[in-house]
Amino acid sequence: MCGIVGYIGGREAVPILIEGLKNLEYRGYDSAGIAVADSDKVFMVKRSGKLKNLEAAINESGISGSLGIGHTRWATHGAPTEANAHPHFGKTREFFVVHNGIIENHQQLKESLKREKCRFNSETDTEVIVHLLEKFYTGDLKQAVCRTVKKLKGSFALGVISSRHPDLLLAARRDSPLIIGLGKGENYIASDVPAILSQTRSVIYLENDEIAVLGRDNAEVFTVNGDCCNRRPVTVKMDPDSASKGGYSHFMIKEINEQPEVMRRILSARIKNNRVRFEELKLNEKRLKNIDNIQIVACGTAYHAGLCGKYVLEKLLKIPVNVDTSSEFRYREQIIKKNKTLVITVSQSGETADTLAALRASQQKGALILSVVNVVGSSIARESDGVVYIYAGPEIAVASTKAYTAQLMTIYLLALYLGEVFGTVSERIRREMLRMLARTPLKMKEVLANNGRIKRVARDYVKRYNIRLAEQFKFLEDEVAQFKDSRKALEFAEQWARRSHLTYGRRFGDFPFLYLGRNVNFPSALEGALKLKEITYISAEGYAAGEMKHGPIALIDEFPLVICINPRSSLYDKMLSNIQEIKARRGTVLSIATKGDREIRKKAYSDYIIEIPPVNEFVSPLIVALPLQLLAYYIAAGIGCDIDQPRNLAKSVTVE
Ligand code: G6P
Repeated sequence: MCGIVGYIGGREAVPILIEGLKNLEYRGYDSAGIAVADSDKVFMVKRSGKLKNLEAAINESGISGSLGIGHTRWATHGAPTEANAHPHFGKTREFFVVHNGIIENHQQLKESLKREKCRFNSETDTEVIVHLLEKFYTGDLKQAVCRTVKKLKGSFALGVISSRHPDLLLAARRDSPLIIGLGKGENYIASDVPAILSQTRSVIYLENDEIAVLGRDNAEVFTVNGDCCNRRPVTVKMDPDSASKGGYSHFMIKEINEQPEVMRRILSARIKNNRVRFEELKLNEKRLKNIDNIQIVACGTAYHAGLCGKYVLEKLLKIPVNVDTSSEFRYREQIIKKNKTLVITVSQSGETADTLAALRASQQKGALILSVVNVVGSSIARESDGVVYIYAGPEIAVASTKAYTAQLMTIYLLALYLGEVFGTVSERIRREMLRMLARTPLKMKEVLANNGRIKRVARDYVKRYNIRLAEQFKFLEDEVAQFKDSRKALEFAEQWARRSHLTYGRRFGDFPFLYLGRNVNFPSALEGALKLKEITYISAEGYAAGEMKHGPIALIDEFPLVICINPRSSLYDKMLSNIQEIKARRGTVLSIATKGDREIRKKAYSDYIIEIPPVNEFVSPLIVALPLQLLAYYIAAGIGCDIDQPRNLAKSVTVE
């Protein structure tokens, strides 16, 4: 949450900061700001709303300089107003700070600073940092940062500049990610690699409680006690084009379409001579053989991938596998058997605060930690005993798609690998599974090529939705009529429409969605519902179909759309019974079914059908994910939602 970027060098800082912020917007987008130093003066521009507001204001202001910091915000403390946007400054207006994280003791600090006559300009937790800097500054900026950082509790990644030191860019971190980018005669700081990827590939990952002091030609890292740390840069391998839309209208649809290629990449990297290999996994087989239970922890979409992993791992390894959301797990009594519990954390970003905390809690209790991560070198990857990367490439859209299927595929392969280590998977089963997995890219391609049906279903839904909306308008006719000025009446009607559009799912819950699935496709139902909620704001619930009678069936009449995930499987008939129960109550059913399934075509069973190619039930979640993603996407596009940057969400949740 929140993105930070900073630059010091010989070039104009503003365009570098803006480009960096654009690439970090997925971390937050409710307000943004920059501060740029030109000789001994610092100029600052901040705006609430999307980055384009800031860009317009900067263009008007004409500010320039070759040292600067920038920030894109996801509000935690204080509304997304201009005053609360970063950078923050103190009484002297000589120090400027951008911050990602949460200062947990900000209230106490604020009280004591107020007693010392500090006046606060914002409601943020961040502002205490800049007042502390002013208080501790005695001519040495590094020392002031060190003293400030020692007073802070909680998580932070900081960028600091001062008009007193136009030749210095400082940074510090604890539990929020921060990298240093190294250039020739210039250096950078950033929350994440994509922010500075077009400038440099040479980076240093700052560790907890480290301070970086950057000049144009030098970059030094210190502990908070001021001791020098000898940190070596690493070269990041990432294609800058992979972080662009490449002709698609949204990152989300681009990333959905990338899935066959991602699958191919994973399969070709992992399968050697009909065996699964994870070259980067530095866990020896002896340690793995000791494992007798597995605990998976993750958040959001990654949690759903983990949930599917439970079915896969239990089937292939025959040991108990628990799955928990990280935010629950970290505060529970964790039942870990030293050296016998394998904790698998699943995380696209590798920075999710709750998952990182769950990892650390498990590590303290002696669990072996293996992480399934996308972002190379991320905190979770670095702190785990072993890591397997999912090779999804940069995922920019807030709603996760390709990372989800890449996590699934990696977990299937991991289960086969562990099955070989444990001796629970025979060679025949392994070969058969690998054959099935190898077909995934082609089957995904088939779904993507036949997306016309999904588009039509989405269009139909949006039509029904709009009719309903128009009906709601009728109630407003009298209200609109009372405006004598027709322009005002129109304004009122438009405002109402916009509001109701955005809050439709909540205010007029006539069309909620219910996603049902069984067994390996129960997590698919959860993920389908999550995708829809995230990008359309329509209320949607995922449920195990067998649980329908214990509550959700009360929702059923003709209005909700019930999505039944029912490809051919051992539980196919059970799902058909559920569908009949829905139909008996005038429910509207959309079935995700296997191509050529005649039975489900009978009118009594489904109002809409989306077909997927025949696929073995055990690996079907990999294919089922795509129509669910596409359905959510096309509905969101039809309603006119902000697909890549849905309200209130952020891609990387680095605060708890
Ligand atoms: C946020 C994102 C989701 C993601 C979740 C976990 O909620 O919007 O897409 O699934 O965080 O993130 P992680 O990076 O740990 O997978």
